[in-house]
Amino acid sequence: MSDKKIIIAVDGYSSSGKSSMARALASAIGYRYIDSGAMYRAVTLWAMRHGMVESGNVDVDALVMALPEIRINFRPNPDGTQSTMLNDEDVESEIRRMEVSNNVSQVAVIPEVRHRLVALQQDFGREKGIVMDGRDIGTTVFPDAEMKVFVSASPRTRAERRYKELIDKGVPATFEEVLENVVKRDHIDETREESPLRKADDATVLDNSEMSVGEQNEWLLSLFNSIVNAD
Ligand code: CDP
Repeated sequence: MSDKKIIIAVDGYSSSGKSSMARALASAIGYRYIDSGAMYRAVTLWAMRHGMVESGNVDVDALVMALPEIRINFRPNPDGTQSTMLNDEDVESEIRRMEVSNNVSQVAVIPEVRHRLVALQQDFGREKGIVMDGRDIGTTVFPDAEMKVFVSASPRTRAERRYKELIDKGVPATFEEVLENVVKRDHIDETREESPLRKADDATVLDNSEMSVGEQNEWLLSLFNSIVNAD
C-alpha cells in the first residue's frame, strides 16, 4: 500500500450504511474516522435539552447565540469504538434516539450551525488520513478530497436497516416511524439552501441495496487501493 495519506469523503442518504462502511474502511487502512452526522445530532441534543426545540420548531436565534457554549469532540474507547462528546459528556447513545433523529435536519438547515461544524470538520482533516461521512463532505467540507463516494439505496431498504439497528440496540421505534423519518430527512436535506445533500460531480456512486456488508466493504477498499496506487 502506498504511504500517501488522502482524504476520503463518503456522502449519501440517511441510513444508507455509509457510517458503517466509512468506519470499516478507516479501521482497515489505519485512518481516522469522523461521523459528521453525530456532530449535527449533538448540537440538536443540546438544543433540545435547553428547551430550544418545540414540536419540530427550533428557536434559531437562541441556538445561534448559544453556539460558542457547545463543544463537540470524539473520544476513542478501549474497545475500538469512539464516542461523541458534548461538552465532555459521552452522548453517543443518546444522539441516536428517534427524538433526536426527528429534529436533527431542522437544526442542520441553520447556516450558522453549518459554518461552525464545517470549520471543525475541516480542522479534523488538516493532517489528511481521514474518512468522513455525511451529506456535504465531498461538496462543501472537502471539495478537493482525493476519494469521494456517494451511497444510495431505496428508502424502504434504508428504513429496514435502520429499524433493525435500533431494535438491536434496544432503542424504541416502529418501522413506520423510521420510514417516515428517513423520507422526511431526505427531503429536508436535499432541499435546504445551505450545502444541500447532492452528489459531487466527481463522486463515485454506490447503490448498495443488493449488497452485503462484506461486499460493500470490499468495494470501498478496492476503490481506495486503485486511487492511492494510481500515481
Ligand atoms: O445516520 P444517518 O445517516 O441517519 O444520519 P446522520 O449521518 O447521523 O445525520 C443526521 C442528520 O444530520 C442528517 O439527516 C442531516 O440532516 C444532518 N447532516 C448534515 O446536514 N450534514 C452532514 N454532513 C451530516 C449530517
